[in-house]
Amino acid sequence: MQTATPTSTLLGGRSPAEFLDTYWQKKPLVIRGALPDFESPLAPEELAGLACEEGVTSRLILEHGGEYPWQLKEGPFEEADFLSLPETHWTVLVQEVDRLIPEVGALLDHFRFIPRWRIDDIMVSYAPTHGNVGAHIDNYDVFLLQGLGQREWQFGHAPVEDETIVPERDVRMLADFSPDETVVLEPGDMLYLPPRIAHHGIARDDCMTYSIGFRAPSHQQLIGDFVSDMLEAIDPNARYADPDLTPPEHTGAIRPEARERVRTILRSLTRDDEALDRWFGRYITEPSRGRMAFPLEEPFAPDELADALRGGAVLRHGAASRLAFMTHDDGTVSLFADGNARRLPADLAFAGPLLTDRAVIPADALASHLDTDAFTQMLAELVNAGILDVMCPNR
Ligand code: SIN
Ligand code: CO
Repeated sequence: MQTATPTSTLLGGRSPAEFLDTYWQKKPLVIRGALPDFESPLAPEELAGLACEEGVTSRLILEHGGEYPWQLKEGPFEEADFLSLPETHWTVLVQEVDRLIPEVGALLDHFRFIPRWRIDDIMVSYAPTHGNVGAHIDNYDVFLLQGLGQREWQFGHAPVEDETIVPERDVRMLADFSPDETVVLEPGDMLYLPPRIAHHGIARDDCMTYSIGFRAPSHQQLIGDFVSDMLEAIDPNARYADPDLTPPEHTGAIRPEARERVRTILRSLTRDDEALDRWFGRYITEPSRGRMAFPLEEPFAPDELADALRGGAVLRHGAASRLAFMTHDDGTVSLFADGNARRLPADLAFAGPLLTDRAVIPADALASHLDTDAFTQMLAELVNAGILDVMCPNR
């Protein structure tokens, strides 16, 4: 397993604050030796194995070797799909490898200077020589960490505003791409790209790339999802009503009192800030890509769980789970887990950061709270719902 690397190498001698101030969402950065001695925790065959698993999101992009150039195939694949591939010019990409392989998930510890809810996943790709997915733009920030072999990256310096896409291709590719810079990355090197920077990565040999990808909901998505959630809560019998109607001076006029009534109806959607915050916390912690937590068949009693944790069991986020917290002015905390919210009183507020900051909950910090009944009760609820996993040697 990788240990935490000093930020000085990760960001090329810059502090997180300097990196965020100068590069984050602003301009690309090539970092040589970001993770010195980094070796891919996965072999290409293991990645191909993941691409064959049910419930794993994977793609094959075949510049050559498909039924037509640039064919995109979606997984899960069969072993035979990999046996019939050409020697060169294809890529396999697997999403959420951080959730599938703990050693890959541990890489996220290097990125704790960015809020966890902004991180989508670690996608891992493998490509033989010349494998690439075409020149393209992504709408999200990404750190592209080289895991195996060499990849040539061509990229622009400024975000693309209006792109022209090559028509009738399975894969979205830029019709006109002229890079401002070309680099060749070796294992442990990393390229940071802000959203909408054109890039093109071509495998020089057997090549694995780890993409630490971020999420940033579009306003359209955010408002659309908010409105559709709110719609469910609206009384279907509530309707515009004007029992106090008086004869109008002009029948063609929409009068101030009618306008105010409609404004009040529309504004009722946004309610108070706390409701908006609670909605967002729930929304952003919904598990992605259709994943879900499964409740335990043999639930833990709180005391039993506390004993297991005292005895060395490890508590970690479940493979599907997303957790986050918000603090409130009165000292209470909202804990969000997989789309649900719970309000923690001030004396349980410590649980917010404790349960959400790291995928593996630090045992020493946990130990000092295991005598707090309300805390162990909540832990048992989260474990029994499958939101937290407990790895127990004796169960
Ligand atoms: C890749 O890993 O092949 C592509 C990653 C990207 O360009 O976003
Ligand atoms: Co990309």
